[in-house]
Amino acid sequence: MSNPRHFITENDLTREQFNALISNGIELKASRKRGEIRDTLRNRTLAMIFEKASTRTRTSFEAGMVQLGGHAINLSPADSQLGRGEPIADTSRVLSEMVDAAMLRTHKHSTIEQFAEVSKIPVINGLSDLLHPCQLLADMQTFVELRGSIEGACVTWLGAGNNMCNSYINTARLLGFTLKIACPPEVNPDAALLKECADHVELTHDAREACANSDAIVTDVWASMGQENDSQSLADALAPYQVTEDLMQLASKDAIFMHCLPAHRGEEVTAAVLDGPQSVVWQEAGNRLHAQKALLEMLML
Ligand code: CP
Ligand code: NVA
Repeated sequence: MSNPRHFITENDLTREQFNALISNGIELKASRKRGEIRDTLRNRTLAMIFEKASTRTRTSFEAGMVQLGGHAINLSPADSQLGRGEPIADTSRVLSEMVDAAMLRTHKHSTIEQFAEVSKIPVINGLSDLLHPCQLLADMQTFVELRGSIEGACVTWLGAGNNMCNSYINTARLLGFTLKIACPPEVNPDAALLKECADHVELTHDAREACANSDAIVTDVWASMGQENDSQSLADALAPYQVTEDLMQLASKDAIFMHCLPAHRGEEVTAAVLDGPQSVVWQEAGNRLHAQKALLEMLML
């Protein structure tokens, strides 16, 4: 049996494959709107392991499998043997005998890699401490739907240099756009990724400079899941990077605002921006469903 294809980092895809997923996601969205029934994944099962909470990722993968004629099973550590110490590699070997793909949301990125190392089925990263590649599929689909190709565009990341920011760094290089990151030095993004993608990324500590003439402004929560203890000490450092109407005005006239959600109004973004006319966050969240259906088909068919 040949090695399964995985989606653990954005770099598991070529630019052509990433762009094909965006096109297929757009087509699957239109097909569903037309009321067409699709059963490409009939009789297939996706296992989902969540070490952390989720609304969008769980719902979009579960609904996505159902809409493609398949089924999804949720395994939380609390009610599976994972919570009682069964090794992740043994869990992977067992699931390979029973289901057709696995999606994991973990604290440590290495947990997903350990799972994938022995897996006979495709493995999807549903968020780790390092990356959130599924969100990038949805974000890129959203940009393309609204503004056309992202190649050559300018995207600004404001706030914590976290897993989402790291995924934007990878994607800037992969799809060929410029990413301007403004964050406090305390929460710089992954240094190795920054170095690898240096040709496409500009790092500054000045929010205004990063927003100038940008086509999209993107942010995320100040404290990621599992890092909430640091949140008070970081809040002061992150305050100047809050996305405000004032900062949005520095960007291009038709710039969009994106956020993977959940959002904290009054922290990383003001309510006026999140609920304002440039915000596309609900379309972006909805695109998780369509983009991941395209991904599931690519990995499983
Ligand atoms: N954006 C995102 O992954 O949301 P959830 O944590 O609700 O899955
Ligand atoms: N950076 C956030 C994203 C949540 C979807 C976190 O890891 O909690």
